[in-house]
Amino acid sequence: MTTLPILRAGHPILRQVAQPVEDPTDPDLEHLVDAMMATMDEAGGVGLAAPQVGVSLRLVILMVPAGRLTGDPEDTALPLTVLINPVITPLGAETEEGWEGCLSLPGLRGLVPRARRIHYRAYGLDGALIERTASGFHARVVQHECDHLDGRLYPSRMTDLGTLGFVEEYARAARAAADVAAGEEVADVD
Ligand code: NI
Repeated sequence: MTTLPILRAGHPILRQVAQPVEDPTDPDLEHLVDAMMATMDEAGGVGLAAPQVGVSLRLVILMVPAGRLTGDPEDTALPLTVLINPVITPLGAETEEGWEGCLSLPGLRGLVPRARRIHYRAYGLDGALIERTASGFHARVVQHECDHLDGRLYPSRMTDLGTLGFVEEYARAARAAADVAAGEEVADVD
């Protein structure tokens, strides 16, 4: 399966408001979705929006792996899903911070506040209406991907840009902290 180049931050398409899909059952969309799925799979992401592959349409693909759930009963795992013309309604004013990365900002991550609980509706490739209530990581992925459709990347949602950093550096720091903790345990035994 052919993969597509993923646009990086700075490309003008990533700042555009994407156009609604006129017919979710248009067979051409299946080709786009197949290519997006192959692209996301190769890149190792959990979501990809059409504008990230240069197509300014309101379509995203995403999945919610069980290993990333927050434990909230409404934070439910989701197999690979297509959302066309998605609309999000936040439920309540509560937000929570969580780490996000983005295939258009390779190697980076940052702490992003998002609505804890949302309702969303969208259409599938079969034209059927999808309606769900979601919390936690599930809600976060949907909000992150739908932001792409309005020309927004996660740093524009961050309240502390000081947490924006490279995954490699965070991993290095975590390893160093683990080494210190292990050293202290050894010292305790002594
Ligand atoms: Ni993204």
